[in-house]
Amino acid sequence: MNSPARIVVLVSGAGTNLQALLDACADPAYGARVVAVGADRDGVEGLARADRAGVPTFVARVADYTSREHWDRALADKVGAFEPDLVVSAGFMKLLSQDFLDRFLTLNTHPALCPAFPGMHGPRDALEHGVKVTGATLFVVDAGVDTGPIVAQVPVEVVEDDDVASLHERIKAAERAMLVDAVGRIAREGISVEGRRVRIGGDAR
Ligand code: GAR
Repeated sequence: MNSPARIVVLVSGAGTNLQALLDACADPAYGARVVAVGADRDGVEGLARADRAGVPTFVARVADYTSREHWDRALADKVGAFEPDLVVSAGFMKLLSQDFLDRFLTLNTHPALCPAFPGMHGPRDALEHGVKVTGATLFVVDAGVDTGPIVAQVPVEVVEDDDVASLHERIKAAERAMLVDAVGRIAREGISVEGRRVRIGGDAR
């Protein structure tokens, strides 16, 4: 791990998790630097946030490649050009190939308490199931959908009048704090992953 740790963040939308990381990285004591932001689509607010912070951006659209494999390889090359210690998928709505994951230690943040409610609609599915507590999970991405070894979790209560939007907003507030805390500790102390056990500090990677 470099010091400060080099982070590439992947986004597909609003990029509020990215913004939280950008804000944290402004403090040299945080120990990490967002060296680039990538997206799978043009014109998203996440890319504008990177522009405003003076961070380089790149876009890799699946539609611009002849196959999903070509897209994945192109994305990996774009990411690799920035030599990241860590890739953070923060609201990036694409699955990454095993080749990509073998090349980069990649974390993803998900708006539910894994292994519950994987996929694209964590807050909606939690609400529909009637759970009283949900939350957010940061995990090391593996070949499955939101199945990887868990780095951090934060609980969020479901309240009586919640709809999907209100619940997701409250989850996102907790999620951003969890992400900033965990990524900073990983940057400063390293991370080891043995099977499903993740430890921050110790055998630094
Ligand atoms: C976050 O809540 C993230 O966990 C979720 O999208 C939101 C992105 O917000 N990701 C998924 O649901 C992936 N399965 P942001 O663009 O404001 O950071």
